Amino acid sequence: MKAPPIRLGVNIDHVATVRNARGGPYPDPIRAAHLAVLAGADGITAHLREDRRHIRDLDMERLKRQLFVPLNFEMAATSEMIGLALALRPHAACLVPEKREERTTEGGLDIIGGHDHLRPAIRELAGSGIRVSLFVEPDIAVMEAARALEAAVVELHTGTYCEAVAEGDPDREAHELARLRNAAAHGARLGLEIHAGHGLNFDTARTVSAIAEIAELNIGHFLIGEAIFLGLDEAVKAMRATMDEGRARAFR
Ligand code: PXP
Repeated sequence: MKAPPIRLGVNIDHVATVRNARGGPYPDPIRAAHLAVLAGADGITAHLREDRRHIRDLDMERLKRQLFVPLNFEMAATSEMIGLALALRPHAACLVPEKREERTTEGGLDIIGGHDHLRPAIRELAGSGIRVSLFVEPDIAVMEAARALEAAVVELHTGTYCEAVAEGDPDREAHELARLRNAAAHGARLGLEIHAGHGLNFDTARTVSAIAEIAELNIGHFLIGEAIFLGLDEAVKAMRATMDEGRARAFR
């Protein structure tokens, strides 16, 4: 059987983190986006946070104007962000939980408890032609809830799996990988498109790419870090090759 393709979305937030450290225009995250696309990224992801700690409004506008690949606008489901997304019309909006004090997105969105709040947000975004993705924990009940919310896509949070791998605890690693596999299979059966991301590096991206239902990985921090050593072009190419290798291995 031929392996279904897997897309790579490159998250450029942390190019903006470095830029903002000095307050000037360099390094430019939009230049990084162009380079990532030339190196094989299928899409670009950027998270406009409430506090604008990395990506800023003008970055989103420039990305939308200049990119010829899908733009994935990561955002909290607040009225401010929904208004910005409706004006920008990105290809996709990935709804994430957001806390001011967190270093990065911690855990998936509570789509079971948050159903009533999320329902109108998803309707409004989808109604204007934006593909809505929900960043969620890899659990069966959560897949059911995403289906009930009529989201097109779920992005499975891979952070806990990646932590288990980093800790070197094989039981926990197997448990977390099984959660990802089961959620991906169940979500796909329900008709959801399955993405995954958070904390992935070459090793974990290779393993997760073997889950056939996953259509896309979104990867940022590790890739931008690797770019210091390899250059962004090589880092993206190496990630692409690693993902293709992982996927092909599962279909041998
Ligand atoms: N997907 C989502 C929904 C995220 O919030 C993030 C982090 O911004 C990522 C993917 C990328 O995670 P990382 O930067 O750890 O690769």
